[in-house]
Amino acid sequence: MTQPAKPATLPTLVPPPAEFAAQANVSGMEAYKALYESAVNDPAAFWGHLAETELDWFQRFDKALDWQPPFAKWFSGGKINVSYNCLDRHTKTARKNKAAIIFEGEPGDQRIITYQELHRLVCRFASSLLTLGLETGDRAIIYMPMIPEAAIAMLACARLGIPHSVVFGGFSAEALKARIQDLEAKVVLTADGGWRRGKEVKLKEAVDEALKFCPTVEHVVVYQRTGSAVHLESGRDHWWHVLDETAREEVPAVELDSEHPLYVLYTSGTTGKPKGILHTTGGYLLQCTMTMKWVFDLKESDTYWCTADVGWVTGHSYVVYGPLSAGATTVMYEGAPDTPAFDRWWRLVDKYKVSIFYTSPTAIRALIRQGDHWPERHKLDSIRLLGSVGEPINPAAWEWFHRVIGGNRCPIVDTWWQTETGAIMIAAMPGAVPLKPGSGTLPMPGLVAEIVDNHGNLVPEGHEGFLILKTPWPGMLRTIWGDPERFKEQYWSKVPGAYFTGDAARRDKDGYYWILGRVDDVMNVSGHRLSTMEIESALVRHPAVAESAVVGKPHEITGQAVCCFVTLKKGISDHEKLGVELRQWVAHEIGPFARPEEIRFTEALPKTRSGKIMRRLLREIVTSHTVAGDVTTLEDMNVLTSLSAQHDED
Ligand code: WT7
Repeated sequence: MTQPAKPATLPTLVPPPAEFAAQANVSGMEAYKALYESAVNDPAAFWGHLAETELDWFQRFDKALDWQPPFAKWFSGGKINVSYNCLDRHTKTARKNKAAIIFEGEPGDQRIITYQELHRLVCRFASSLLTLGLETGDRAIIYMPMIPEAAIAMLACARLGIPHSVVFGGFSAEALKARIQDLEAKVVLTADGGWRRGKEVKLKEAVDEALKFCPTVEHVVVYQRTGSAVHLESGRDHWWHVLDETAREEVPAVELDSEHPLYVLYTSGTTGKPKGILHTTGGYLLQCTMTMKWVFDLKESDTYWCTADVGWVTGHSYVVYGPLSAGATTVMYEGAPDTPAFDRWWRLVDKYKVSIFYTSPTAIRALIRQGDHWPERHKLDSIRLLGSVGEPINPAAWEWFHRVIGGNRCPIVDTWWQTETGAIMIAAMPGAVPLKPGSGTLPMPGLVAEIVDNHGNLVPEGHEGFLILKTPWPGMLRTIWGDPERFKEQYWSKVPGAYFTGDAARRDKDGYYWILGRVDDVMNVSGHRLSTMEIESALVRHPAVAESAVVGKPHEITGQAVCCFVTLKKGISDHEKLGVELRQWVAHEIGPFARPEEIRFTEALPKTRSGKIMRRLLREIVTSHTVAGDVTTLEDMNVLTSLSAQHDED
């Protein structure tokens, strides 16, 4: 293994390369500013015009925006279907034989699916869902590997107006169960398993486990991916391929209200219970489509690859809905970047001549560590644009990505957004906006992003504060599924009338945004959001645990790692065994990706006099190994001394 790259000296301003700007969808700063201004000045006219010209409607909308804060309706009265916009409309043009999906499985199997063929497969699967008696408004859970059938399942649901919730395959049966229950899903779409690092991730087993407690589920459809033996519950479980035998080739897309729920995606919040973020139809699709063109500068000839799993919002907006609506060729890869070797991604870029490559800083850091000889083995000159998402991109990762992967030729769009925002909010239009490495640069058209203090007052230029969004946007979340009160409280109460992002940021003299990370009890591990409370509640469900406090600790590759402070019930002391067991326990309760890096046993946790755990102090201990902050509200100073001392013994 080579050493991690030395801290790089980076240019402070990287203007769009002339050649790139010359061909860009949005070329030059003036063009960006004109778009931004016209959207700010008259959002309804701006988005209304784009909705009419960029999407296909069955019935035109009456009103572009109906804004009753914090509830927005976009394109009211309009009838539209996402699946129609992603498929049918392309099959009426020369795109019909263009590759919609280029897929490679981890074992090396490949499929190239044209728009026409994808349309056919989606119709057939929609037909199977109809055979099971599913109707518009019923809910589906999708728990699948990264294979085309995951996208097919999503698009078939969208076609019928069945709101779906994709659950990342790395989530456990427990987490799956909670999501099925909250959504009151009628059907679960899954597979026997998927391939990851040469091993099978057994999905159907987890479904069986979860369904012991999910009375709303009437049907399970199982796609055969790995061929391993699975149990099929008669009357409930159906093979995908058996249903397909009698499927129809044409199933019309249902004409849905623009505000019809498209999907619910669960994300961690500041309590133990994940929030079901609701996205609807017309507005969401428009924003995904436009950002494909603005930020990814999408052209007819591009081969576009976003490495995210469909289980995360990035997979929804930028593997499936955005690219397909915009008529792109989207690459899907099932497995791990290191299987069979660390050049798997670069091999794929070379093989399929990927031109736009979108990934995360955590993946970049992991690959840097393996050495430059892996990418150097492959021709990467098909790439013309790079993208990053999930956390701020650190200088060493930026420099390497730009030089080694982008051949010093490609702009890097650093895209700031969230599950809640549905689509990219702050990012460069790469032919227009000069980059500043580490900054997301400027907001998307019409978006008013401000930095404020605790009282909602603007902070001076260059100062740190809370990032809020002051204007509604088409792709915004509409509510938290089944909990509008939590929606109001979580996002709209901190600064009245504004959307609270939960991120700290500063804005520099050029209006560029620098995101500094979360300000709530949410960790960012490998670009995925994890809630401290969720892990704490998992830990205290273990019979040996009395109390726990979880904090994120800086980590070279994953950005943050999960560090748990645990106090045990009286009489329990086998720390070594329990440490292993508790890490496994969290993986079982939430999913392997949430497995804590570290469990620290302690006699007591630092608390305020009112009994609140002072996670801030614990964060300081794991970050700097000392406590410098204010401890005047701390109940028992001795706790701190012993916690810091414990580290010195490590
Ligand atoms: C949180 C949202 C949106 C897809 C991935 C994660 C952080 C995301 C950036 C970026 C700095 C970023 C923020 C945000 N984040 N992108 N380019 N620069 N921070 O989605 O799980 O909803 O997490 O990820 O903290 O609030 P998510």
